[in-house]
Amino acid sequence: MAKTNTVKASELLFPTPRTILDKEGFFRFHDGITIAVDPSFTSLIETAPALLQIQQGGEDILVKQQDGFPSEGYSLTIGKKQIVIKASDEVGAFRGISTLRNLTYTSDHRLPCCAIEDSPSFAWRGFMIDCSRHYFSPAFLKKLIDVASLYHLNRFHWHLSDDQGWRIPLDGWPQLEKVASKRTLLQYTDGRTYGRLYTKEEILEVQAYAHARHMIVVPEIETPGHVSSLLAAYPHFGCSGGPYEVQDRWGIFDEVLCAGNNQVLEFLEDAITQIAALFSDPYIHIGGDECPHTAWESCPKCQKRMQEEGLSKEKELQSWMTSKICAMVNKAGKRPIGWDEVLEGTESLGLPEDLIVMSWRGVAGGIEASERGHEVIMCPNTDGCYFDYQHTDDEEEMGNLGVSSITQVAQFDPLAGLKGETDRARVLGSQGNLWSEKITNGRQAEYMLFPRLMVLAERLWNPQEPEKTLDRIPLLYKVCDALSIHCYRGPLA
Ligand code: ACM
Ligand code: ZN
Repeated sequence: MAKTNTVKASELLFPTPRTILDKEGFFRFHDGITIAVDPSFTSLIETAPALLQIQQGGEDILVKQQDGFPSEGYSLTIGKKQIVIKASDEVGAFRGISTLRNLTYTSDHRLPCCAIEDSPSFAWRGFMIDCSRHYFSPAFLKKLIDVASLYHLNRFHWHLSDDQGWRIPLDGWPQLEKVASKRTLLQYTDGRTYGRLYTKEEILEVQAYAHARHMIVVPEIETPGHVSSLLAAYPHFGCSGGPYEVQDRWGIFDEVLCAGNNQVLEFLEDAITQIAALFSDPYIHIGGDECPHTAWESCPKCQKRMQEEGLSKEKELQSWMTSKICAMVNKAGKRPIGWDEVLEGTESLGLPEDLIVMSWRGVAGGIEASERGHEVIMCPNTDGCYFDYQHTDDEEEMGNLGVSSITQVAQFDPLAGLKGETDRARVLGSQGNLWSEKITNGRQAEYMLFPRLMVLAERLWNPQEPEKTLDRIPLLYKVCDALSIHCYRGPLA
């Protein structure tokens, strides 16, 4: 006798689709079934069979183009004999394929029949990986991008420089490879070093892999602070002229880019031009966080710059730097993003109009930026978006600096505290940030990211009552098992 359905599709899907109608029966998914993709979806023709681990050549799964869906929207109908995905464009069709693929894992390949109409709540649904403190291999980054895309995430923020290592190659700057990419491991007495640059080929490969999953890549280089590695390579970029070290300690360092040195601006212009050529997506993140101004206070060049520009405070000098760097990003054809410190010292110069503000020190910066007319990405460290923080306040638990419990993530609302409709509309979305000071391998990174990143993905795709989200966490463990991801399975609060 045929087995009857015991579980409904609506109980197996995470993120929850916008609308889902459960139906009788199921579709048995196996590697002998076939897929036909609309010829206009040229990249999906390649990727869909590989992602689902099936072949082209028949219409067990049919992916069709149809006008009229919202951005990234799709419909997915699972019948006993056929699965049909419809979308206006390739992005929507890819999200439909991801939902289907996700369901194969949670249903053990026995897909309950259903009819789904789906589209996202927020446009910016991302994750940041710090590849300076820990160098993550391209293969590992691809693994993360793949699972993130399964949860409809669409932004990979690639943190490529910091005090402890520079990771992006630039033509004409050989010291980046020789000096800035490596640090001495102070825990050892034998002088061993750690770190390397990504090659351009690796960057292009990761980028192509992300694009095949309809994920935009956002490169970040830190300016004007968090630059010890850059200063170690090019000491004349610092106010004192050095010498400087690529740091193997964690924290905030007083040595920053000299704002009075035109050679610094020339380097940044060249770096941004080269980064803009290497990365094809619309954004470049310029950092801006945690930049002490002590070196500027006693630097004749910085003081002269302040005088020339009519600036009375060092905070304004940082704002001047932000404006200069944003103009370089614009000139290179891209849109700048900065951490919320970019809002400070802007009394006289204001903020470049198209600068997107990433709110990390709580939500106040994001609220202010939105009120000032800027688009905002909310990733407050106070509300669950920092995945380097511990899952629980337990000294045996991994992580540092704070706690981001799964419950906090399940309750996170990127629009909390924003009053008017216009201000709310400027919040593009959110992302989870993984800083890697205390992370020494990919397995640890997985433990910190999952399932928190999946929970955040539901908040951004189609937020549910937190209890409903938390009840379905076992679905996430199931996908982690299927994809060989080492995830956290401890207390939720
Ligand atoms: C940050 O966490 N320093 C942006
Ligand atoms: Zn200076």
